[in-house]
Amino acid sequence: MEIKKVGVIGCGLMGSGIAQVCAQAGLDVKVSEANDALLQKGLGAMKAGLSRNVEKGRMTKEDMEGILSRIKGTTNIADFSDRDLVIEAITENMDLKKKIFAELDKICLPTALLATNTSCLSIIEMAMVTKRPDKVLGLHFFNPVPIMKLLEMVKTIATSAEVLEAGKQFGEKVGKKVIVAKDSPGFIVNRLGIPFMLDAIRMLDSGLATKEDIDTGVLLGFNHPMGPLTLCDMVGLDTLYFIANAMYAELKDPKFAAPSLLGKMVAAGWLGRKTDKGFYDYK
Ligand SMILES: NC(=O)c1ccc[n+]([C@@H]2O[C@H](COP(=O)([O-])OP(=O)(O)OC[C@H]3O[C@@H](n4cnc5c(N)ncnc54)[C@H](O)[C@@H]3O)[C@@H](O)[C@H]2O)c1
Repeated sequence: MEIKKVGVIGCGLMGSGIAQVCAQAGLDVKVSEANDALLQKGLGAMKAGLSRNVEKGRMTKEDMEGILSRIKGTTNIADFSDRDLVIEAITENMDLKKKIFAELDKICLPTALLATNTSCLSIIEMAMVTKRPDKVLGLHFFNPVPIMKLLEMVKTIATSAEVLEAGKQFGEKVGKKVIVAKDSPGFIVNRLGIPFMLDAIRMLDSGLATKEDIDTGVLLGFNHPMGPLTLCDMVGLDTLYFIANAMYAELKDPKFAAPSLLGKMVAAGWLGRKTDKGFYDYK
């Protein structure tokens, strides 16, 4: 089950990073988007990040060109028919993800592994729309993917041991430390982290402190690399909202309920860094 050809569905924040780290590891990569404009936007963001690395002397121009030559963009899911592994990284929505998994199951080689980068949704539910639930797993990368060392691999009750071993080897090949979690809402990291981020928003909304002081408190008090509101902006407030709603629906625990301020900011289109405005201004 050696993985040489990888497909990534979605070239947003996560998909573009996943495609990049796979190509950096020498793998042959295809990445898809919903339309050509979004594909060009995603590939453009990736190229801009790589160019910054070249300018800062972190990689050579030849390295960058090599990475980009191993990535092909497409808007046609049928192009994934020759992949050993396909990682879905589209919007956090179960119906959309199930639709993609059903399509992939028809298109892909019978031996291909199908993975999702979901932050919290039930993976067995996605696996059951395919005829290969034993070959479906979670590969949950962290943002920004080229920098964050962690890969949370998620096993469902149906994922085979052989597939998990192939997933672990793939994770290590792309330079990540792999941890294994069960298929439960939020797995390990988001089960702990999402309530923390939501509590920071609730604290701000209740007027207990300013956003700067909440972030500085966590930054210096816990020695975290950034404050929780800065982190919310980095994750994307729409994605955080989808995650909170999905985890609350499943767990019915109020600590996962989305604060009303979060819903209002999403309605206003203030989604964090990706729209240049969230808790902070990035223009
Ligand atoms: N943002 C984070 O910090 C983070 C971290 C870990 C995991 N995740 C998970 O990764 C997934 C993607 O999140 P993101 O932050 O990259 O979101 P994003 O909004 O930046 O990107 C999602 C992309 O998927 C594309 N897309 C939607 N439908 C598609 C289709 N049918 N075919 C191809 N592309 C399609 C969208 O156009 C969009 O560009 C979600 O499941 C999210 O929960 C996000």
